[in-house]
Amino acid sequence: MTDAAKTVSEALESRRSIRAFQDRPVDGALLRAILEKASRAPSGGNLQPWHLYVVGGERLDQFKAIMRERLQDSPGGENREYDVYPPNLIAPYRDRRFQVGEDMYGLLGIPRDDKAARLRWFANNFQFFGAPVALFCYVHRTMGPPQWSDLGMYLQSVMLLLREAGLDSCPQECWSLYPQTLGEFLQAPDEWMLFTGMSIGYREENAEVNQLRAKRAPLDEIAEFHGF
Ligand SMILES: Cc1cc2nc3c(=O)[nH]c(=O)nc-3n(C[C@H](O)[C@H](O)[C@H](O)COP(=O)(O)O)c2cc1C
Repeated sequence: MTDAAKTVSEALESRRSIRAFQDRPVDGALLRAILEKASRAPSGGNLQPWHLYVVGGERLDQFKAIMRERLQDSPGGENREYDVYPPNLIAPYRDRRFQVGEDMYGLLGIPRDDKAARLRWFANNFQFFGAPVALFCYVHRTMGPPQWSDLGMYLQSVMLLLREAGLDSCPQECWSLYPQTLGEFLQAPDEWMLFTGMSIGYREENAEVNQLRAKRAPLDEIAEFHGF
């Protein structure tokens, strides 16, 4: 379903990570309304530890140009401030990560051993997959895991509200590879640390990559019920 979602279930069901967007602008007032509504997300102690930057228009064009150069002179990224995954990713998490990669590159027709083609595709992340809006979520450096989990609740609220407005998204932790370039561009204070970026826009319905429906573990693998 790519129309606007009318129920929470529809929003959940139709949200997926979109990796090809239409060249169609997004209304700024709509974005403001969505970010404001999403702030009803819960957070421990009501700290609301999220801090957002939303970038579009010429500013986004400027940043994309910077990133094109940055990828040339620093393809491996900069000083990372956190590990996206544990250094030794254990099963079943390792298998799930492998599977979604295989499924996505399979749709794109890029074989496992064609590392160069996979890297070229990955670079699309840094052009926001053609999306007209970029969102970046920061957190104060003094915050710990409980507050980081609050960020997830806020961001999922944003993504569901985007679906309600007929919009799509792709969260992007790949930005943790370029925290210095991004921080400089946004003039983010040093005490804030980047968690994730997010591309926002209208999905390119027919793009192969957008047909990916990432698998989920069955309920019995992730939940145990006691007393039912
Ligand atoms: C915090 C976070 C960061 C992510 N970073 C990236 C990213 O950098 N690039 C990307 O293509 N997908 C990224 N994803 C998307 C995940 O790969 C995706 O959510 C997962 O495979 C499940 O697929 P679905 O979102 O389509 O249901 C990220 C997702 C989350 C929640």
